[in-house]
Amino acid sequence: MPQISDPQADGPNEPDGPVRAKSIAKYRKRAAGYDASCGPTWPIRERTIAALQLQPGQRVLDVGCGTGLSLALLRAAVGPDGMVFGCDQSPEMLAIAQQRQIDAGWSNVRLMQSAAQQVELPEAVDALLFHYTHDVLRSPAALARLLACARPQARVAIAGVKYFPGWLAPLNLWVYLKNYGYNGAPGELATPWDRILPLLDDWQMAPTQFGMGYIGSGRVSAAKTA
Ligand SMILES: C[S@@+](CC[C@H](N)C(=O)[O-])C[C@H]1O[C@@H](n2cnc3c(N)ncnc32)[C@H](O)[C@@H]1O
Repeated sequence: MPQISDPQADGPNEPDGPVRAKSIAKYRKRAAGYDASCGPTWPIRERTIAALQLQPGQRVLDVGCGTGLSLALLRAAVGPDGMVFGCDQSPEMLAIAQQRQIDAGWSNVRLMQSAAQQVELPEAVDALLFHYTHDVLRSPAALARLLACARPQARVAIAGVKYFPGWLAPLNLWVYLKNYGYNGAPGELATPWDRILPLLDDWQMAPTQFGMGYIGSGRVSAAKTA
């Protein structure tokens, strides 16, 4: 069943509660203009989804699916016998994704209003997409839950923002401020993938956008899902 994500209801023992609440508040304001802001990163979305190497009939989870901009590409990759799951904690972002699904008449897309930390799927997925989901990547609780939803050796692809290296480093205050607008925990941008990395095999990473972005991919380590 779809879950309702309410950080207030998680209580003080939910360590990600404050970060999640900040993110939900930011996307309450951002949702309406979100799609218009995504044009420049469309090629990155295509490359990240290609890195999943999806096959017809497979199951994939779009983590923090937002307004559902990846759904059509994921559906095309898994075909009519495949299944695309999407979860997002922001009611405003997910509402746009749900309208997209209704408008397109997709029957093999299932969207859930859920924090990644709490997501439940009816079956293990073959692939996990993290497209610009920095807060999720920094949460050990979210990563543990998500990897528990994947079969061993499931493919994982990640795209996001990171700090510029080397001589471009003076621009990193701007990178931080840009990330601040989209995340509850906007820091830790040197190696944003470093909490999922120990959980994966065959990690590969390539910088994008002159080094202020990255695309990474790997497979869920069998030892982590056993
Ligand atoms: C930058 S948007 C990316 C949306 C989508 N993946 C895309 O590529 O267009 C980040 C999304 O992550 C969601 N998000 C942030 N933290 C989350 C969490 N803990 N659980 C579920 N969704 C989360 C936000 O609500 C937002 O929709």
